[in-house]
Amino acid sequence: MTQKEYLDKNQERFINELLDWLRIPSVSADSAFKDDVKRAADFVADKLRLAGADNVVVEPTAGHPIVYGEKLIDPSKPTVLVYGHYDVQPSVPDHLWDTPPFDPTIRDGKIYARGACDDKGQAYMHVKAFETMMQTNSLTCNVKFMIEGEEEVGSANLGTYCRANKEKLACDVILISDTSMIANDTPSLDVGLRGLTYMEIEVTGPSIDLHSGVYGGAVANPANVICTMIASLHDENRHITIPGFYDNVVELTAEEREAMAQTPFDLDEYKRELKIQDVMGETGYSTIERTGIRPTLDVNGIWGGYTGEGSKTVLPSKASAKISMRLVPNQNWERIAQLFTEHMQRIAPPSVTVTVTPHHGGNPYMTPSDSKAYAAAVAALKESFGKDPVPTRSGGSIPIVALFEEVLGVKSILMGFGLDSDAIHSPNEKFGIFNFLKGIETIPLFFKYFG
Ligand code: BES
Ligand code: MN
Ligand code: MN
Repeated sequence: MTQKEYLDKNQERFINELLDWLRIPSVSADSAFKDDVKRAADFVADKLRLAGADNVVVEPTAGHPIVYGEKLIDPSKPTVLVYGHYDVQPSVPDHLWDTPPFDPTIRDGKIYARGACDDKGQAYMHVKAFETMMQTNSLTCNVKFMIEGEEEVGSANLGTYCRANKEKLACDVILISDTSMIANDTPSLDVGLRGLTYMEIEVTGPSIDLHSGVYGGAVANPANVICTMIASLHDENRHITIPGFYDNVVELTAEEREAMAQTPFDLDEYKRELKIQDVMGETGYSTIERTGIRPTLDVNGIWGGYTGEGSKTVLPSKASAKISMRLVPNQNWERIAQLFTEHMQRIAPPSVTVTVTPHHGGNPYMTPSDSKAYAAAVAALKESFGKDPVPTRSGGSIPIVALFEEVLGVKSILMGFGLDSDAIHSPNEKFGIFNFLKGIETIPLFFKYFG
């Protein structure tokens, strides 16, 4: 049987298995879901075993487990390490979902569920592609699977696991489907991921909440202060004002920017899809440059004072914010955390105290486009889509990818099959069945060309 025949014959089962996996709410951020996270790990471990992987283990860590499995066919053949994650983002706010986040539903050829695209749907393409290669006797490379359960919370324990298992994880390339492509008729390959520094700040004024009439105007209001501090982090050109922030930023050459401007992108459609009147960002850069090659700073959450029903006249004692900074080559996330901390302390007025706490981070990453593996990915996408893939640089982060390079000395190929419109991390996350099946069709072609 050919791969195509096997896929056609089994596609319905592949989809149903994915739906079963999506029913397990593997939310890594919330300890209430700890057992579900473990169940999701066991589920994929079983599927790897059934597909023919050897030495499948669910490795416990200080946090959520890592699923490992392998099929080593011939030491003279190249080895592909497949990385993915089975944990998902919280589904809240649940009332904004048209159908429940953990009761996957198929509508208009798309699977709606938390994790459908990010990353269970995409990780599962690899399990089924592997099954297909095993069943059609066409596996051309050694393969190792490493599917983790902490990507959405910063992969804190995966680094330790990699350092402790360098031999076991030895490989020629790491293959990842956890990014998006331009459109279903425009395949693309991600050649860059932004890094991330995630911080929390807390501003404290008076030791207790005060009457805002009796004290307002005379005592520092931490909510006012945090807003002023955050507002000052960008200048009128939307440049970030933290001293030293841009020190190591690699500027693209005019030719590189010219090449990037060729990327298919429709600003009107972008605005329409996001239901915004206009875009906003750093002066002098296009929208795809703003997310692809420029560092950014965003408030992810901000709170303090009275937020309940009605009004309460109160001058809050504290105000807080969670702030992320997306980084580009060659910024270092720990240095940026340091610069941010020093700057916030420096700009805080003497009437308040500020505590700055780092959460997690990771360095930016670039995939070289002159490697054998990159050529194999281009050939695979070209064969399955009938078109050359467009190189893109995504705005998102997979912090562990830079660490793979540092610890294992291996580069990653980012061959994602999602779409930016799949609403990952948002209500009504989805993944096209076309995309799921196209992934299962394309992955074996990568193995063919790489082997
Ligand atoms: N799969 C995403 C990253 C992504 C999405 C890259 C789309 C490129 C295009 C990943 O699961 C993710 O959400 N990463 C987080 C970082 C993590 C430390 C929480 C992110 O980018 O916010
Ligand atoms: Mn992901
Ligand atoms: Mn994610």
